[in-house]
Formats: sequence, structure tokens, C-alpha cells
Amino acid sequence: MTTLEFSGVAKSYGRKSVLADVSVTFATGLTLLTGPSGAGKSTLLRIVASAERPDRGTISWDGVPLPTARTALRRTLGYAPQAVDLPEDLTAREFALHMAVLKGLDRKAADLQFGAITEAIGLHADINRRIATFSGGMRRRLIFAQALLGAPRLLALDEPTAELDGETARQVGRLILEQARTAAVVMTTHLAEELAPEASAILRVEQGRVTSA
Ligand SMILES: Nc1ncnc2c1ncn2[C@@H]1O[C@H](COP(=O)(O)OP(=O)(O)OP(=O)(O)O)[C@@H](O)[C@H]1O
Ligand SMILES: [Mg+2]
Repeated sequence: MTTLEFSGVAKSYGRKSVLADVSVTFATGLTLLTGPSGAGKSTLLRIVASAERPDRGTISWDGVPLPTARTALRRTLGYAPQAVDLPEDLTAREFALHMAVLKGLDRKAADLQFGAITEAIGLHADINRRIATFSGGMRRRLIFAQALLGAPRLLALDEPTAELDGETARQVGRLILEQARTAAVVMTTHLAEELAPEASAILRVEQGRVTSA
């Protein structure tokens, strides 16, 4: 069982406290993050993904505290940020292979994986197109697909179903549930109600705290 354990985690931007005192354990399975806009869900996910450091508190990965465990965590991390600038001149496939190389994956294996993932979410026909020609929903699926490369044990997904039509969002949801059998998946989604029956935890981020929803 993989676990990412937060203890007394706090994060402020300037004088604005976003996370005040967060103690929570993310385990293998699906953890849904809910809460109002601006509550700190994306901030929490950035900290989960080691993309941002907390001001206070400790984080342990499989029982080993950061920073010692940071390299091990990053090696098996998939992160789909809420907003990201994509390299417009690359094709989706070129971008995915670039990300795969950064993750230390074999190009050929990554290409096969990317093919299978994009097949499952209706993006496969477009992977050789330049990203500049992609719609919002196609971009969202590409960001999601790159996060899954390398079968990560920790997945931080920030609104992976935003901008998707109902059927495509459900395809993405199915893939997420498949991942959650072996990975600790922490995500925000507007499909929270639909995925709730399958979730191992539903957490609410509000006023700097994280509570069981
Ligand atoms: N880099 C930053 N610099 C300053 N303030 C920030 C920064 N990132 C986030 N904030 C502030 O932190 C608070 C939490 O933002 P965050 O993006 O984590 O919320 P959220 O719950 O993800 O919201 P949403 O549901 O709209 O995506 C907001 O008040 C936001 O303005
Ligand atoms: Mg957010």
C-alpha cells in the first residue's frame, strides 16, 4: 500500500494563508478533493506533486520523510495541473514522448502506452497533430494522458474532466478508476458525485483545513 502522509502542512502566499494545518494520509485508491473555488485544492495538489513546498509541516512517502524521499516520489509521480502552457509547435505525441523521456521511460514503451491511453479517451486520431490546433478538451486529455505515462504510483489530477463532454469525461473517469487500483490517486473533478461511490476518501478543503466530507 502506497501512502503519502501530510502532517501539520501549512502554505501561505504573502499574508494570505491558504492551507493552515493539514494532516491527512493519501493511500492507494481514489481520493476526491472537494471545496469551494479558491479554497486551496490546486495548492494542495501542487504540494502533493512536489511542485511546491509547504511553509511548515512534514510529508512522508511510504514512511520516509521528504526531502529524503523526494527523488523516489518524483520518479513515480504523474501530475496533471489545472492550467499549463503546452508546447504549441509540437505534436501531442512528440510532447508525450518528451515528457516520457524526462520521466526516464523507454521511448518505445512510452509510445505504446501513450497510444493505448489516448485510444481509451478518444484522442488517438489526433496525436500526430500540432498542439496549436487542439481544442480545450483535447488539451485537457493530453495533459491527463502524459500524467499516466509510466504507470505512476502517485497521481495528482487537477480537474482532468473539465471541458470534456459527458461521455468523454466518463471515459477519463474509467481510466482513473483503473489507475486507482494500484496508485494513490488524488484529484479534483466536477464529476465528484459520479465518482463518489468508487472513492476511498472524499475530502473537503475549506478555510485552510482538510476534513472528511
Ligand atoms: N502562486 C500564487 N500566488 C498567490 N496566491 C495564490 C497563488 N496560487 C494560489 N493562490 C491563492 O490561493 C488560494 C487558493 O487557490 P487554489 O488555486 O489552490 O484554489 P482552488 O481550490 O484550486 O480553486 P478552484 O476551484 O477555483 O480551482 C486563492 O485565494 C488563490 O488566489
Ligand atoms: Mg484549482
